[in-house]
Amino acid sequence: MGLIVTENIAIEDLTEDMARDELTRLADLLNMANKAYHSDDDPMMTDAEFDALKKRNNDIELKFPEHKKPDSPTEKVGALPSETFSKIKHSKRMFSLANAFEDNDLYDFDEQVRRFLNFGELDPLEYTVEPKIDGLSLSLRYENGKLAFAATRGDGTTGENVTENAKQISDIPQNLPTKIEVIEVRGEVYMEHKDFEILNKNYDSLGKKIFANPRNAAAGSLRQLDATITAERPLKFLAYAWGELTEPLDISQFGAIKKLKNLGFKTNSHTKLCKTIDEALAHYEELSKIRSDLGYDIDGIVYKVDSLNLQDRLGYRSTTPRWAIAHKFPAEYSWTQLEAIDIQVGRTGALSPVARLQPVTVGGVVVSNATLHNQDYIEGRDSSGKEIRSGKDIRINDWVEVYRAGDVIPKISDVDLTRRHVDSLPYTFPSNCPECGSKAIRDEGDAVIRCTGGIDCPAQAIEKLKHFVSRKAFDIEGLGGKQIELFFADEVLPVKEPADIFTLKLRDQNNLTKLKDRHGFGQKSAKNLFEAIENKKTIEFSRFLFSLGIRHVGENVAKILARHFLSWSKFVESIAISQNKESQEYLDLVAIDGIGTTVVSSLLSAFESGSEKNIINRLANHLNILDEIPPDGENSFISGKTLVFTGTLEKMSRSEAKSLAENFGAKVSGSVSAKTDLVIAGPGAGSKIKKAEELGLKVLDETEWLSLIGK
Ligand code: IVH
Repeated sequence: MGLIVTENIAIEDLTEDMARDELTRLADLLNMANKAYHSDDDPMMTDAEFDALKKRNNDIELKFPEHKKPDSPTEKVGALPSETFSKIKHSKRMFSLANAFEDNDLYDFDEQVRRFLNFGELDPLEYTVEPKIDGLSLSLRYENGKLAFAATRGDGTTGENVTENAKQISDIPQNLPTKIEVIEVRGEVYMEHKDFEILNKNYDSLGKKIFANPRNAAAGSLRQLDATITAERPLKFLAYAWGELTEPLDISQFGAIKKLKNLGFKTNSHTKLCKTIDEALAHYEELSKIRSDLGYDIDGIVYKVDSLNLQDRLGYRSTTPRWAIAHKFPAEYSWTQLEAIDIQVGRTGALSPVARLQPVTVGGVVVSNATLHNQDYIEGRDSSGKEIRSGKDIRINDWVEVYRAGDVIPKISDVDLTRRHVDSLPYTFPSNCPECGSKAIRDEGDAVIRCTGGIDCPAQAIEKLKHFVSRKAFDIEGLGGKQIELFFADEVLPVKEPADIFTLKLRDQNNLTKLKDRHGFGQKSAKNLFEAIENKKTIEFSRFLFSLGIRHVGENVAKILARHFLSWSKFVESIAISQNKESQEYLDLVAIDGIGTTVVSSLLSAFESGSEKNIINRLANHLNILDEIPPDGENSFISGKTLVFTGTLEKMSRSEAKSLAENFGAKVSGSVSAKTDLVIAGPGAGSKIKKAEELGLKVLDETEWLSLIGK
């Protein structure tokens, strides 16, 4: 038979031979298109054309299953490397852990937990104590006993979908022995020392870049767009926590971990149930001794309140549970020479000195920079004026001892004066901003020297923009710190302030001619960037507020303010009125629990007329800022209400009462005003209750309050 062009023949009309030829033709074409799209950044057909070809391939395979190719594109497409991982929103937030470094921090922790729970010193309080594995956390969602999704922690709220990769890890069961409706198992992906060494040896002999440590190797291996690469890497998984559950696992942490083991997960055999904090500290000592024999890296020990009921009562701060703490191993030290002191200018204008070091290995990690904090630190004093390093100052060319504890930025613990050159001079801190030349000043009571150039200082403007696009802020895919620097300096499509990001597409005249071919942008990545920017035009209020990078307005403060005001417009209005410090609005603002005068004065100056306010307004014009939804919002009758606790509470500590109220979506304030909805008064309540009565507010006692919220 001669050459038959099968391309335009309807599927019903295809013979067996033609179908086989057509499947081969389609496979070649689809593979080529895939490569052009994913690897070469240069698509050879439109998405619609690609989809039509894929559908034709599918339909032919359905009609002629015996001719389906072993490497059929329908089998491959799902596993083909995608540009990036898709995102998964965690049904329950993935938290991190607060750190402790000394035994005393652990006694403090125990005391705080007891205080929160209204426990006496002798009330029993057990802890589960286990190694803190130095890998990366992973959440595995099983639906009806089958692994449905695997997601990395990401920013705690949203992670990356690494399901295909997780399936390659043999410690991760794909099916559970029981068909629980939903169970999310959380734990650590890590690499053992022996496997890490083999991997690096192989990489080295192939001339590839080796991994700095097992943690990096594990992270790099899990986050492979091509899951077949993950499969070649010897990853392990240990389960130690959980997320959403449709059935409780147990009543204790220790029991729950046993249940996870019965479900087929690897759990850490060095986990111990301890009756007291002293017993927990003894287990820490034990584990410190065997740390180097474990065969994998641990960077500390985790202590968890064992009772799940108490864990529930203790709840969470913004990013960490109140019921657990990580006891980090002591820092590791090395000596090296300090080559230079550079000054970095941050987004709030702070001049931060950084030590550039002769690279040195500290506890397995190569360190070439260390923080020098501020002028006092360099001169040998801490923020309260007390001597540090026995008062030794730090000078360029000094031999210094560098230490690092956990993920903390390396610091300098000592200076070897015997090796100091006789001609060496004390370091003089610059009195002008090294980036813009403006005067740098140190305010009374402030340890930091700040550039006075404001947003006219390019370094501050760039740092603000970097913060703006960072993961916890706008998180725009394809627009990281590097791209911000390029755009900031770009003459054709400059980005000098956040609003400029949202006019990029318009300024590119919609034809991609300007952005394409600039700074490594291909047509596809330009298109993707515009899409990613478009997607972020709708944003939650608290995230938006945090992204502005206003001094003292971190994630937590932004959340508190968003929960309080619920909408951006109400917030802006309130700040405008509060510019008058005599106003009730101002007094209410500083009384919000967790806010106070420092935050408020920073907000007031950002929103005072002037260039910063204009920048915010120009930005807000491009966005749809969503109203904040209080937790448990709709079904709670105290949600959105402002409460004041006063007097002594008898059933629980003030902190627990506050956290409980916030869980119901209420706002807790420290002072009674016309804005207060409800006052909860215990014995000994004084002036606040009087004021509440004058204002005719509703006052409940503790029992009434607890029954109101069904406790
Ligand atoms: S518990 C709600 N247990 O440490 C608390 N975390 O610094 C969830 N980690 O993100 C964490 N070993 O990746 C817990 N035995 C352990 C752990 C552990 C390692 C990691 C985890 C977490 C990080 C926090």
